[in-house]
Amino acid sequence: MDDVAKMLGAAPIFAGLSDRHLKSLAKSSKVLSFPPDTRIVKQGEPGIAMYVILSGSAEVRQGPKVLSRLNAGQFFGEMTLVDGLPRSADVVAVGSAQCAVLNRWEFWGIARAEPEILESIMREMARRLRDANKALTE
Ligand code: CMP
Repeated sequence: MDDVAKMLGAAPIFAGLSDRHLKSLAKSSKVLSFPPDTRIVKQGEPGIAMYVILSGSAEVRQGPKVLSRLNAGQFFGEMTLVDGLPRSADVVAVGSAQCAVLNRWEFWGIARAEPEILESIMREMARRLRDANKALTE
């Protein structure tokens, strides 16, 4: 398997995928490198892709407020793919970051073929909501 397929397989969201699916996912996703401090997605803008962090980290921000920090193996940009609304926050590279970028059609294609992906995304979205609720009451 090539490196991108291996890195995608290490991300929890794709952990259950067969080698064949990982290879086809690697083929249909684009790998982009972002220099430190790049705003990868911008709050309020429309979007057609989600991102899986292959290396480095990213911060989720709303204005000056940091909502979360995401590391290699985690994903972002899924909310816009699910509800079609504008980006809910900025996501900014902390140091250099490399991401696999999946567009809406690639994402839904693979999610329909492999519904466990949706299960992992829902699990992670529930975890983020719990964290956000906790932060509200702290
Ligand atoms: P999206 O709205 O498409 O673009 C911004 C992304 O930031 C969003 O998808 C999520 O992936 C991520 N995000 C938004 N809010 C939070 C949060 N509270 N915790 C972690 N990630 C978030």
